[in-house]
Amino acid sequence: MKQRLGLFDATAINVGAIIGGGIFVVTGIVAGLAGSALVVSMLLAAVTSLFTALSYAELTAWLPKEGSVYEYGYRLISPAAGFLGGWMWILSNIFSGAAVALGFGNYLSALVPGLSPGVVAAIVSVAFTALNYFGIQHSAGLNNLLVVAKLLILGFFVAFGLLFVKVGNFQPFNPLGTGVLYGAFYIFFAYGGFARVAVVAEEIKDAKRVIPRAIVLSLIISTIFYIAVGLVAVGLVGAGSLSGSGHPLALAIGATGSEAAVLLVSVGGVISTASVLLTSILGVSRLGFAMSRRGDFPAPLSRLHPRFGTPSVSVVASGALMTCLALFVDLGNVIAISTFAMLFYYGVGNIAATRLPKEERKYPTYVSLLGTISCFVFLIFALFLSPQAWAAGLTGLGVGAAYFLALRWRRKRKTT
Ligand code: ALA
Repeated sequence: MKQRLGLFDATAINVGAIIGGGIFVVTGIVAGLAGSALVVSMLLAAVTSLFTALSYAELTAWLPKEGSVYEYGYRLISPAAGFLGGWMWILSNIFSGAAVALGFGNYLSALVPGLSPGVVAAIVSVAFTALNYFGIQHSAGLNNLLVVAKLLILGFFVAFGLLFVKVGNFQPFNPLGTGVLYGAFYIFFAYGGFARVAVVAEEIKDAKRVIPRAIVLSLIISTIFYIAVGLVAVGLVGAGSLSGSGHPLALAIGATGSEAAVLLVSVGGVISTASVLLTSILGVSRLGFAMSRRGDFPAPLSRLHPRFGTPSVSVVASGALMTCLALFVDLGNVIAISTFAMLFYYGVGNIAATRLPKEERKYPTYVSLLGTISCFVFLIFALFLSPQAWAAGLTGLGVGAAYFLALRWRRKRKTT
């Protein structure tokens, strides 16, 4: 693998992976749960994410290797933990990739009536698979553009929306209710992606220094944007209106009376979901590559394209899976399933960080312990919020465990 990307690209890959369907769609669900205390949920999820982000920053500084949590779990906990961490990473990102592809389809078909969201989702998945196939510098180049554009549009949402905020929309305000905690679980989806760049670590220049910075920087940037957007969205129309909407930010900016602003924010939805999809295909292909390199996945997945230097078979397999899912998946539970799998592999990463050699630790061990506990607590919440997500998540975990046991058994038979 060639090291082609610097700090700007690395941070942009993370911001590209973070800001998308979460803020543009899930804000509506969270407003329904947390009410006007929506930003308290956002803050809670940000703090939880920060513990995990610091664990990942330490882990990547220790071992900047393609595969991220798969490698850390494998080396610091056990091969089974590494395998299941990597497996759940793939599960989570295939589901969130399909979800944001559908989000892209929905936003675009709202802008251009007559288009079928499912077909648009499939077309964009195929197009981004092709882009990833031809080289990470192409994906990173387009991603940089998408990230700048989406931050400008969210900045516009905040600056313009602020002029029309009504303080009365924050009444009633109940930051201590359980709804705020449930809301934090859902908005956790919106923060997912802050460690995406760790998965492509071998393609980053000076990775040991650059990746930890990119992780923390991207989380800070996203948190600032989320809090500002959350405050303005509630201030514009109130949590009650946001809660029923599948495109809450476009609805909120509509309160300004400007059709141009609604159009711009809808374009923001298209751009943001596109960048998350782009980095999802990138990430899943590299995880597949890393797992195949050690013999845990079929060998062709770790083959590098002789000219483009990309794990081309893995890219095509990742893109094909997301395209199929985007055609058949139902958005309803997908976010909860993806978040369940994400909390699982973040938990594995946090536990791995507690096992780093002392001289490799940058932060006190309690940071990773708090990260582990918070992931576990949110997993429990998921049980109450969406038992279906638990059932689907556990089924995914069970299939992964069965595959791993079969692999072990085959290896043992070969050696005896
Ligand atoms: N954090 C990503 C999003 O919000 C998954 O779309």
